[in-house]
Amino acid sequence: MQFYMPTELITGPNCVEKNAEKLARYGKRCLIVTGGSVAKRSGALDDTEAALRSQGIEYSCFSGIAPNPTLASCQEGGRLAHEAGAEFVIGIGGGSPLDAAKAVGVFAANPDMTEEGFYSAVWPNAPLPIVLIGTTAGTGSEVTSVSVLTDSRGRKHSIHDRRVYAALALGDARYTMSLPRGATLSTGIDALAHCVESYFSKKADLFSRTFSVRGVKLGLPVLQQLAGSGDLPTPEQREALYQASILGGMAINPTGTVFPHNVGYYLTENYGIPHGFASAVFMPELLRHVRECEPQLSEAFYAACGTSEEALCRLVEKTVPVRGIQLTEDEIRTALPRWEHNGTVHNTVGTVRMEEIAAMLQKEF
Ligand SMILES: [Fe+2]
Repeated sequence: MQFYMPTELITGPNCVEKNAEKLARYGKRCLIVTGGSVAKRSGALDDTEAALRSQGIEYSCFSGIAPNPTLASCQEGGRLAHEAGAEFVIGIGGGSPLDAAKAVGVFAANPDMTEEGFYSAVWPNAPLPIVLIGTTAGTGSEVTSVSVLTDSRGRKHSIHDRRVYAALALGDARYTMSLPRGATLSTGIDALAHCVESYFSKKADLFSRTFSVRGVKLGLPVLQQLAGSGDLPTPEQREALYQASILGGMAINPTGTVFPHNVGYYLTENYGIPHGFASAVFMPELLRHVRECEPQLSEAFYAACGTSEEALCRLVEKTVPVRGIQLTEDEIRTALPRWEHNGTVHNTVGTVRMEEIAAMLQKEF
């Protein structure tokens, strides 16, 4: 077994303010990377700016990160950081700005690098130090070495690289309080999917499964309650979802995700389905696959988490909106080759056959 996470993780109310002096370790000038209005609305941006001012750190903001961030936007951010003489990068937001901030750190240190250079992982200079401050309870990007970006052909790729771990992650669940119900469910079910998928990875071990199980136990009851009631989460439930997202991130660090995430990318790329929902769409197929090929592992998972296949499938059914999307035979045939040699798909326990993927793509989304 092995576990590696060089990120200093500090969570709790006011953790940005309380740890302002830690920011000074990384330099006197930084670039803040954010998405739309969430960084401001959540209070995270104001707290971060106050913390930087208290330490005499100069900063500029790059707020050009859209959902499913493109590599091109990260290149632009990297250029801005380089021109501003930034010594470190702070990412504030949900998974998209946080994943993008990691790549901005790479491009800031390598401003002339091309897309090919980025994906080759031969980076002449080490990325700038990264500080991440989450405003959603979903990706767990704060604690992962993963960055999922969309390339110039419109395809999502995830990179796993130890050099993009954050140096410091500050997790204040209060920043997730203003998240609307739809985004809360979409991101929450992404965190749950990380925990479930990681458990059923060929790379899973005692450590990663411990994170998975604890994440499911914290997040699942909250999601079930929200799905059944139409309520928004209480502050305690927000905290539980945030912790579940961090545990999910720690679970996928050594294992990655398995086939539902990667097949879900197709739905996001082609039909704009939010990442969390797109990943959860195929959770029932994963649970059935594991029951059929690894029944003991399947039973051990439900026993440890105190749930059942039926309960998880019911949650997906209640939570993930069906939009009446039906892929044609032609679309399925054209898409299938991308998964034939896909590492994420083949990391799923048992053997995932292309016919299985074709069959799951035939359902209505
Ligand atoms: Fe995810």
